[in-house]
Amino acid sequence: MSNIESPQTITITRPDDWHLHLRDGAAMASVLPHSARQFARAIVMPNLKPPVTTTAMASAYRDRILAALPADMQRAANRFEPLMTLYLTDNTEPDEIRRAMDTGFIHAVKLYPAGATTNSDAGVTDLAKCYKTLEVMQELGMPFLVHGEVTDQDIDLFDREAVFIERVMRPLRRDMPELKIVFEHITTKDAAQYVAEADGPIAATITAHHLLYNRNEIFKGGIRPHYYCLPVLKREEHRLALMTAATSGDERFFLGTDSAPHAIGAKETACGCAGCYTALHAMEMYAEAFDRAGALDKLEAFASFYGPDFYDLPRNEGTVTLKRESWTLPATVALGESALVPLNGGEQINWKML
Ligand code: DOR
Ligand code: ZN
Repeated sequence: MSNIESPQTITITRPDDWHLHLRDGAAMASVLPHSARQFARAIVMPNLKPPVTTTAMASAYRDRILAALPADMQRAANRFEPLMTLYLTDNTEPDEIRRAMDTGFIHAVKLYPAGATTNSDAGVTDLAKCYKTLEVMQELGMPFLVHGEVTDQDIDLFDREAVFIERVMRPLRRDMPELKIVFEHITTKDAAQYVAEADGPIAATITAHHLLYNRNEIFKGGIRPHYYCLPVLKREEHRLALMTAATSGDERFFLGTDSAPHAIGAKETACGCAGCYTALHAMEMYAEAFDRAGALDKLEAFASFYGPDFYDLPRNEGTVTLKRESWTLPATVALGESALVPLNGGEQINWKML
């Protein structure tokens, strides 16, 4: 194979992670350097306990993140910048959005349908209750990050994203056509097609694990809790549709890892938490996915251009280099006093960020 078809190294503009769970306290201090090494900026999810529902809480959380950053990641060339978000509730006031916008460091508001996933109990019970607030977001250009799953227990788990499009996304976009929306961590061909064909300001993030794996992975030879996340991995036809979207060069699709740390004990148990930890090797995973599709030339725009363009932020300066090199990922890493198992922990992977 020629070098052009299969390069041994690729150098791209520093990427960003447009969907990340950092947690708080000692756990945050453990995982933050992983993301800060891989990415220049990250959209930080607000699903803490209690959730980050106000500008004051987001400001304090941001200070804690900055204080926990290793010194070399606070300095110019290696600087990591947390981009903060607010957690929408039935009671979020329009003025809270104005205050958030004025800070310059709160970049989005997150929708967790109540009961959809980890720490979503305080989430929205009915979007109609939030319309006044959403109207202000539309007016100010504040992006709305949507966990796109209905929560009705009578809807099959694997259908919840497709049903969300019909029941929630279409009516919302009909009523608020100028609202900037990111359909987060899409997992189906239905969502990929919906976003690709939609008019107006909508985009989608795609995780590395949804590009690399289908739902068989959760059940290979036994139940594998580290592959369990929400929205759950889907059939192969959906994975293929996500690969097509990510490698298409369409600016509506960009990188969001949804890396979500949980202690080993919370994953390897009778009722394990949802979330895949990929912050350690996210860019390596994306490189693997794009490489398999023969589309490494499309990785830079997906990882480093389309996100900031959508959020009206400047693209990063500086570069990162990924090398085709086999190495073994640690089986576990620290998570505060405990430990977590990264996705692919203890396995060999084919790319390495230098
Ligand atoms: O798998 C997931 N983990 N999906 C989510 O939506 C939340 C996340 C978490 O916070 O653990
Ligand atoms: Zn998430």
